[in-house]
Amino acid sequence: MKDLLTIADLGKDGIDEIMVTADAMAEVSARPIPKVPALRGKTVASMFFEDSTRTRTSFETAAKRLSADVLNFSASSSSVNKGESLRDTVETIEAMGVDAIIVRHRSSGAPRQVAQWAKASVLNAGDGWHAHPTQALLDAYTIRDEGRDFDGLNVAIVGDISHSRVARSNIEAFSTLGANVTLVAPPTLLPPHVEALEASVSHSLDAVLPETDVLYLLRMQHERMDQALVPSLHEYHRSFGLTPDRAKQLPASALIMHPGPMNRGIEISPEVIDDSRVRVLNQVANGVTVRMAVLYLVVGSNSGGGAL
Ligand code: NCD
Repeated sequence: MKDLLTIADLGKDGIDEIMVTADAMAEVSARPIPKVPALRGKTVASMFFEDSTRTRTSFETAAKRLSADVLNFSASSSSVNKGESLRDTVETIEAMGVDAIIVRHRSSGAPRQVAQWAKASVLNAGDGWHAHPTQALLDAYTIRDEGRDFDGLNVAIVGDISHSRVARSNIEAFSTLGANVTLVAPPTLLPPHVEALEASVSHSLDAVLPETDVLYLLRMQHERMDQALVPSLHEYHRSFGLTPDRAKQLPASALIMHPGPMNRGIEISPEVIDDSRVRVLNQVANGVTVRMAVLYLVVGSNSGGGAL
């Protein structure tokens, strides 16, 4: 595998290979010194043209646990502000001798474009509304890590589906693994041609909750909205927010997940964040493990990969 751009590029076998490799990485992460020489001598560049807390630090931690060198590029303090193009920027970074480039960009398709220019492996860390494959992989790993079987698992993805690259990648990953995915949102937050997605649709969170095994909440993505798509955030919370009353309707064995960053009081009430079913920090921890697996398979496999 040279690049990781979308879940569709991976297919079920590709997802399974990453899950199994992530088990080995979880074992490494649990050691007193969670570091192995597998990618020693390799350089991983992270190029983030959009804000990030989790994804960037997670990839960086993953690369360091595999002993790769990490080169950090931040668009906001770079010559992009002087008008340098994406292609020139990528070629400049690649000329320093990098083995993988991690790209986050506000434009859908930017990582695929970079992959066509670069000889190095390209990993998509989120592009526009399009895809966020490592988020979907860490979410799938988190569910699998709880011992849940994807076959027939009822997953409800709630909120701003239309602007969410996380939703698109998670729909692909969960449905490929055999889950039943339901999108729960007001019509204004669903994308056009929603029927083309491998998911059913509901406009009522209350109707869906009792049958839900995994409740996956999304952030309201204000920065991507050019018009008011809900009457008010308070109104949204009343109809689609996970309130303490709604949490009672969810089965005791259900998992509550969120990719972060969370808007407390909008998609989830502050009181529910401490519910024992919430797996948000497990998602973060598993993000490192899964990104170690991806880096190992993509960068290590080009050169045989070092020992774990
Ligand atoms: C998401 C993203 O940036 O796509 N966050 C993340 O990577 N964990 C979701 C979001 O911004 O709401």
